[in-house]
Amino acid sequence: MITSSLTSKAQLICWVVSVFIIVSLVHAESPTLNVKVHDGQNDSLILASDETRRQDPFNSLEWYTGGWNISNKHYIGSLAYTAAPLFLTAGVWFVGVGLFMLLSCLCFCCCCRQRSYGYSKSAYACSVGLLILFTIVAVFGAVVLYTGEGKYHESTADTLDYVVDQADSIVKNLKNVSSYLTASKKVGVNQTFLPPQVQKSIDNVASMINSSATTLETVTVDNKDDIKKVLETVRHILVVVAAAMLLLALLGFLFSVFGLQFLVYILIIVTWILVAGTFILSGVFLLLHNATGDTCIAMDEWVENPRVHTALDDILPCIEPATAEQSLSETKDVVFQLVQGVNGIVTNVSNANFSVIASPLAYNQSGPPVPILCNPFNKDMSKRKCVTGEVDLSNATEVWKNNVCQVSTGDVCITVGRLTPSMFDEMAGVVNVSYGLYHYGPFLTDLVDCTFVRETFSGIYNEHCPDLKKYSEWVYIGLTMVSGAVALSMIFWLLYARERRHRKYTKLVDSASHRGDAYGKGP
Ligand SMILES: *[C@@H]1O[C@H](CO)[C@@H](O)[C@H](O)[C@H]1NC(C)=O
Ligand SMILES: *[C@@H]1O[C@H](CO)[C@@H](O)[C@H](O)[C@H]1NC(C)=O
Ligand SMILES: *[C@@H]1O[C@H](CO)[C@@H](O)[C@H](O)[C@H]1NC(C)=O
Ligand SMILES: *[C@@H]1O[C@H](CO)[C@@H](O)[C@H](O)[C@H]1NC(C)=O
Ligand SMILES: *[C@@H]1O[C@H](CO)[C@@H](O)[C@H](O)[C@H]1NC(C)=O
Ligand SMILES: *[C@@H]1O[C@H](CO)[C@@H](O)[C@H](O)[C@H]1NC(C)=O
Ligand SMILES: *[C@@H]1O[C@H](CO)[C@@H](O)[C@H](O)[C@H]1NC(C)=O
Ligand SMILES: *[C@@H]1O[C@H](CO)[C@@H](O)[C@H](O)[C@H]1NC(C)=O
Ligand SMILES: *[C@@H]1O[C@H](CO)[C@@H](O)[C@H](O)[C@H]1NC(C)=O
Ligand SMILES: *[C@@H]1O[C@H](CO)[C@@H](O)[C@H](O)[C@H]1NC(C)=O
Repeated sequence: MITSSLTSKAQLICWVVSVFIIVSLVHAESPTLNVKVHDGQNDSLILASDETRRQDPFNSLEWYTGGWNISNKHYIGSLAYTAAPLFLTAGVWFVGVGLFMLLSCLCFCCCCRQRSYGYSKSAYACSVGLLILFTIVAVFGAVVLYTGEGKYHESTADTLDYVVDQADSIVKNLKNVSSYLTASKKVGVNQTFLPPQVQKSIDNVASMINSSATTLETVTVDNKDDIKKVLETVRHILVVVAAAMLLLALLGFLFSVFGLQFLVYILIIVTWILVAGTFILSGVFLLLHNATGDTCIAMDEWVENPRVHTALDDILPCIEPATAEQSLSETKDVVFQLVQGVNGIVTNVSNANFSVIASPLAYNQSGPPVPILCNPFNKDMSKRKCVTGEVDLSNATEVWKNNVCQVSTGDVCITVGRLTPSMFDEMAGVVNVSYGLYHYGPFLTDLVDCTFVRETFSGIYNEHCPDLKKYSEWVYIGLTMVSGAVALSMIFWLLYARERRHRKYTKLVDSASHRGDAYGKGP
């Protein structure tokens, strides 16, 4: 009676475990629902609508259809719900095994242990087989986890570097713009190059740009260090988990094969806690994997649909492209006017030959004429090609240095030259402002209308998302595999040790009943 009940118990466990393996393999292949749900309006877009269609625990498990939107608790809830099975498994495992251990302990203390030695060859073989199987799966899972962890760390570090590089290039550009625009301070008040209000607003813009650059720089540096620290910590945790689980699986296997009962019990307590923790960790990585997938799709769809409103626009302060375009054409106009103004002075004053020195515009200018500036725009703001004899904004200051004369106290040239030092300074200032606006105007508009962000997202989507998704999945699969396999191995450590004891006992009984030379014959 006892024999048959024990054997059926062991067979039942074997059967249940085998079914579980098959079910989970089938479940992993189950297709996802692919129903496209749109707003109905064409001026707003639901980001990643297919990928984010999940059951929403805050809305009685109805399907969530709001798309990627991190300011929506239903999105966060439905995302978290995807990892619920793993968290639930961790809870059930922790409570179940805890209760089991408590009951076993009580049973042991109250001496209600039944000394029942039934032995069946099939149960023994099944427990040995599954013990070996789960140990192999655990080792394989640990390898997947370790490999996935290494690659995941690499790809997150690469992504971080990419984003930081993009931010750095923005900071550098902003600092350059700011340094060019602050030159407007040097533009004299008396000259009519820049009206005072324009000069003042350019100055304000320059300091605003400078402070944005400084803020962005500190934010980038601070966050980069923090994120790096988090990534390193995650990496260490995963390596330790992989190593610990591998060690547990191997030690458990050895201890139970060699029948070291006491060590198996110690190992079981360690495994009990570690497996619960690992299930939770694998739930976290499943979340991370799903969140990465959603965000990647959302970024791509946002990049592809620049003119529609999406949830990403709520968190990114992008200026309407039309407004940005208008600002750009205003900067072009300013550049055009500034270059026109300087060229007027050059042609009508510096390069003029005055026979009477007393003339108000004469300061004894003489020598080769000052080359005029190349205006990068026509009057209608279309691009203009430079003609020979014109100097480029980028090196006009260098060229004009040759035309500067030395002056007397009355600001009159006493050597050959057509520009007084004060004139040169003012003109150089105007050239710097013009160059800054001309060269960095498109960059500034790209920045404010989020073209730059779109490029960055596109780079992340194309270069980094595939790896991030793949390797977060590896880590999640490795963690689930290793925790599941070690959890099941643990059951078979016990079961096998028991079967082993029973076999020994049965053999002893057998040999005693046959009164033969059981020891001489061997197994
Ligand atoms: C929606 O699309 C229609 C035609 O496709 C267009 O006429 C209409 O202006 C669009 N509405 C908005 C708000 O973009
Ligand atoms: C900023 O200006 C310096 C020289 O002033 C130049 O070497 C550098 O390439 C500029 N950086 C960018 C991003 O334009
Ligand atoms: C930008 O601001 C920093 C301090 O915030 C200052 O040290 C630097 O000189 C400023 N640069 C320009 C070009 O204004
Ligand atoms: C013009 O800009 C360059 C580069 O930022 C700077 O080195 C130079 O001093 C500026 N010139 C004036 C007159 O501000
Ligand atoms: C500049 O203008 C101020 C008054 O606005 C005048 O006192 C000064 O003499 C002028 N300087 C030159 C060089 O014209
Ligand atoms: C995102 O969620 C917030 C909060 O629920 C909501 O106010 C906002 O309209 C949503 N955005 C989009 C684009 O659906
Ligand atoms: C320079 O002289 C031309 C005519 O010779 C005139 O049309 C133009 O307005 C003058 N420019 C300045 C800045 O005085
Ligand atoms: C002024 O004189 C120089 C030679 O000293 C000559 O090359 C130049 O063409 C003259 N400019 C004008 C406007 O006459
Ligand atoms: C100024 O730049 C142009 C091309 O950008 C170049 O041909 C010319 O030699 C440069 N002149 C000086 C003095 O650097
Ligand atoms: C005008 O400049 C010439 C050099 O080009 C110099 O010889 C002459 O003394 C200067 N005249 C005055 C009044 O400074």
